[in-house]
Amino acid sequence: MIEFVKSRHEPVETLPLHRPILGDLEKTYLAECIDSNFVSSVGARVSEFEERLATFSGVKRAVATVNGTAALHTALLVAGVQRDTEVITQPLTFAATTNAIAYTGAVPAFVDVERETLGLNPDALKAFLDVHGERCGDYLVNRTTGRQISACVPVHIYGHPCRMDEIVGICADYKIPVIEDAAEALGSYRGGRHVGGHGLMSTLSFNGNKIITTGGGGAVLTNDDALADRLKHLTTTAKQPHPYEFYHQEVGYNYRLPNLNAALGCAQMEQLPHFLEEKRKIAGAYRAFFAASEIEFIDEPPRCRSNFWLNGILFPDRAQRDSFLEYSNSNGVMTRPFWTLMPDLPACADSPCMDIPVARDLYNRGVALPSSVPNR
Ligand SMILES: Cc1ncc(COP(=O)(O)O)c(C=O)c1O
Repeated sequence: MIEFVKSRHEPVETLPLHRPILGDLEKTYLAECIDSNFVSSVGARVSEFEERLATFSGVKRAVATVNGTAALHTALLVAGVQRDTEVITQPLTFAATTNAIAYTGAVPAFVDVERETLGLNPDALKAFLDVHGERCGDYLVNRTTGRQISACVPVHIYGHPCRMDEIVGICADYKIPVIEDAAEALGSYRGGRHVGGHGLMSTLSFNGNKIITTGGGGAVLTNDDALADRLKHLTTTAKQPHPYEFYHQEVGYNYRLPNLNAALGCAQMEQLPHFLEEKRKIAGAYRAFFAASEIEFIDEPPRCRSNFWLNGILFPDRAQRDSFLEYSNSNGVMTRPFWTLMPDLPACADSPCMDIPVARDLYNRGVALPSSVPNR
């Protein structure tokens, strides 16, 4: 039993969970952007940032958006997800995943995660589809709810890659598109391949707490040019290209990343290799520290190279987790439990949910630790 002394010391400064590292390069690129007058959704930095993202992650195209939630919303729309259909996802994720599903009018259907990856368990996914999936012409229908199953969204939690080959294989058998929520996983690899290129599309976030930040921002990655063009169209108010006429073919979204934010993104991309190295060192220090204790360090899955965006640990039980959360937070060290599971949130209360013992166990015992890269 791990005991924490229940005292409250005056913290000199709070140690954050994850802070952005912004410096001279960001200031230079921002100043250039301001001087150019291209501060909004048109400008050279947007295309440059998209190209840098695509090259780094080994996919053909990237389309930058205002945030990761907007990226996921648009990707779901482009994948054909419609109102009153079901999107399979995992109970352990940030609320943005299920919010984006809800924006389309679809309903999340929850399948358990696995301990090794923290992500969607392919075996549980197959079991769900074998029991509930029924093909009706072109559609796959959940025979229990009567709703069409329109997509599957696995999430690479804390930067640990899901078993994508298995997930994509199962979804191909059932003919449902896969969209990877890779918001936390820029710089993570499975089998030497960057995450994000396995599914039909994948999405990233550049929120202030992510491995690189644009203040707020996101992107959709895809290897399909037609999908990328459609993503760009929908995220730019669906305006038909024309030198001066305004014609919008359908309801579009004002989801494009402004040039100012993209300028930050270009500067951050130049530093990403350094951030990844530092992240690996932090993970190594935590791994060594917890090696001889009954607290389990969440390491990268086999054959994977995680970006270790956030480092996680598992306590032997919930009482010890709670006592550590109380102790650390009242002593100036920001630590967080894993997110309340999505099926436990009011917005998802009526969503189909399989047995989720692994997600429940991870929630009960898991804590995320400070994982910021030191200032240069
Ligand atoms: C798993 C996951 N999905 C989606 C998002 C949404 O990203 P954003 O905050 O940029 O909208 C985040 C991060 O915030 C996330 O952690």
